[in-house]
Amino acid sequence: EELKVFCPATIANVSCGFDVLGLALAKVGDEMTIKKTREPGITISKIEGQDLPLDTDHNVAGVAAKALLQQLGDSYHGGFDIAIHKKIKPGSGIGSSAASAAGAVAGINQLLDHPFSQTALVRFAMQGEKLASGVAHADNVAPAILGGFTLVRSYEPLDIIKIPTPSLLYATILHPQIEIKTADSRKILKTSITLQSGIKQWGNLGGLIAGLYTNDYELIGRSLEDHIIEPIRSILIPGYDIVKQVALKTGALGVGISGSGPSIFALSKGKETAERVAEKMYDNYDTIGLEFDMHISPIA
Ligand code: HSE
Repeated sequence: EELKVFCPATIANVSCGFDVLGLALAKVGDEMTIKKTREPGITISKIEGQDLPLDTDHNVAGVAAKALLQQLGDSYHGGFDIAIHKKIKPGSGIGSSAASAAGAVAGINQLLDHPFSQTALVRFAMQGEKLASGVAHADNVAPAILGGFTLVRSYEPLDIIKIPTPSLLYATILHPQIEIKTADSRKILKTSITLQSGIKQWGNLGGLIAGLYTNDYELIGRSLEDHIIEPIRSILIPGYDIVKQVALKTGALGVGISGSGPSIFALSKGKETAERVAEKMYDNYDTIGLEFDMHISPIA
């Protein structure tokens, strides 16, 4: 038995929801093929597109899949083989490790006829994130598994909420070809925040969630602000401020750093606006002298 899985790229944080909010892209992601094997355990037979370890203890898909198998315990005698076609570059900020970890556990769960809840799958996939960045954050793996927007309401106990996605919302991604490791871009963050910046941030997070539930694009746009992380991390991204201003002027609802960067995301109402935003971002970034690529995708 063999299953093909689409493993979506994800935008974590979405400006005001550091480590708790994320969204999945419908049209950007990896492909994975998972097969049942008679041999017990997990093997990774092939990785195309990127030079990543096949050793299951050093591969996020392997670690996540093993966490799932361990939970199954003696009740399951077989194993699984994974082949990965990576299209998302590691260190791009659109959830490369999450796509692999989430794809592996979601695919195996499907081949086994769904013994696990989505929250349980998120927990397994978080083990992959821990390997990748040192921290078991769930804001990429949760949307990769549940689709659309998700909120990690709580980590202990793990409580994942699926948030509705307004149908006209499109993401534009600009990916400068520099690699930023999540572990590194977490090290530069401060471990405490002021009450004042907290107030702004949770006001915006509440506003964004309300806007997503009520299809209020204007409210979504007003809420896409980040007073805590963006001022620190944007320093690592050449041209960030300029391209952000250009996208906003062109009609994007909001612009921010995708996950831990370097990718920059814009959310727009309607495909035409997203395309216009992409064009202007492209023209503008072209003058910076750094290689980059771009994606436009609905959210799903
Ligand atoms: N919330 C995580 C971070 C996402 O910003 O470090 C990493 O993709």
